Amino acid sequence: MDMTGTSAGPKISVPWSGAGRQCHSPELDWSEAIRRAVIGGGCFAGRKVVKEFEERLAGLCGTRYAEATASGSAALLLALQTLEVGAGDEVVTVPNTFAASVEAVKLTGARPVLVDVQAATHTMDPEQIEPAISSRTKAIMPVHLYGRPAEMDAIRAIADEHGLLVIEEACHAAGARLPNRPCGSLGDVAAFSFGQSKPLASFGEAGAVTTSDEEIVERLRMLNRHGQAQAHVHQRTGFNFRMDPLEAAVLCERLRHRAYWLDRRRELGERYTQAFASFGIVRNPLVPVSHQHAFYAYVVEIPDRLDLQRHLTDEGIGWGVHYPTPIHRMKPHRDLDRRGGFPVVERLSEQILSLPVHPTLTDEEVNKVIEVVTAFFAPECRH
Ligand SMILES: Cc1ncc(COP(=O)(O)O)c(C=O)c1O
Repeated sequence: MDMTGTSAGPKISVPWSGAGRQCHSPELDWSEAIRRAVIGGGCFAGRKVVKEFEERLAGLCGTRYAEATASGSAALLLALQTLEVGAGDEVVTVPNTFAASVEAVKLTGARPVLVDVQAATHTMDPEQIEPAISSRTKAIMPVHLYGRPAEMDAIRAIADEHGLLVIEEACHAAGARLPNRPCGSLGDVAAFSFGQSKPLASFGEAGAVTTSDEEIVERLRMLNRHGQAQAHVHQRTGFNFRMDPLEAAVLCERLRHRAYWLDRRRELGERYTQAFASFGIVRNPLVPVSHQHAFYAYVVEIPDRLDLQRHLTDEGIGWGVHYPTPIHRMKPHRDLDRRGGFPVVERLSEQILSLPVHPTLTDEEVNKVIEVVTAFFAPECRH
């Protein structure tokens, strides 16, 4: 889902993504987790473990409910369908995201309306929202990009003033928080991804929708079971976007070890920030101390990205770009461009670079990343 420096060129010893390594985390007891899911409760044991995951996730997100899904993309589509977003509606969102965000809107028949982001945070610029609202606008969908919460207070205030729904695109953001309020509880619904490189990672594909609204969760559950509120009574056209119980077992095990998957990412993100603070040239999206970043990606902004990419690759360090092509420049979504474009997103797409920040990095590897980046900016620091 990204452009990475992990697959080409010289051998990479510090991979950008921890996807492969996270499956082998010795701290986590996969066999017991899977035994419980498959054998533990007899018939339909799988559904028990999915329910357990939903309860644990709702606890993490500070919501009353969660509905587990097969992927983040499925979570987005299910959330939009549940809010009855459809043909004739518009959803305000951003162009610096993964294609799934706008695909889900388009698949409902609605139109995504893109707005630029703040240069300081890389997330939706609240000042751009009102000019994008029309009589057709139904919802605002900010993206908590890289795991950094979007400016939700300002966005919620605009939504309330115009009677709009708020959908958190939280696919990078499991575990992220504003002061005292976790991502997942900041809109009417939130959609998460637990794909294998995400902070809260399954072994493959998984996602979820969170909400605290009882009517919304009833519709979510019904639509996720082919429109049935009870067996064989189909009231709506729904589908099966449900999570596989084996992935639910994996995710329950991860949630039991929060220090491993979440706190370690934060610790590494903070180490990088401290180490790079001395280079005026390395800019990061601003993160107030009161915000808790989930660090799906540790992003730096530099004008001459290509040179840093080459330098990292030569030194065996993987990198990513999230994202190199803004949505409105992608072939199927050029209809979403507008006069004047989206200047901040366009500049960022050429200047951002993601460093490895996954919890399986050893201290030695993190020191190597710091050393190699430092040597790029300040060659005199080279040992
Ligand atoms: C911002 C964003 N939204 C949505 C998705 C889709 O999630 P999934 O791959 O779980 O379907 C991704 C996946 O990388 C993503 O990065």
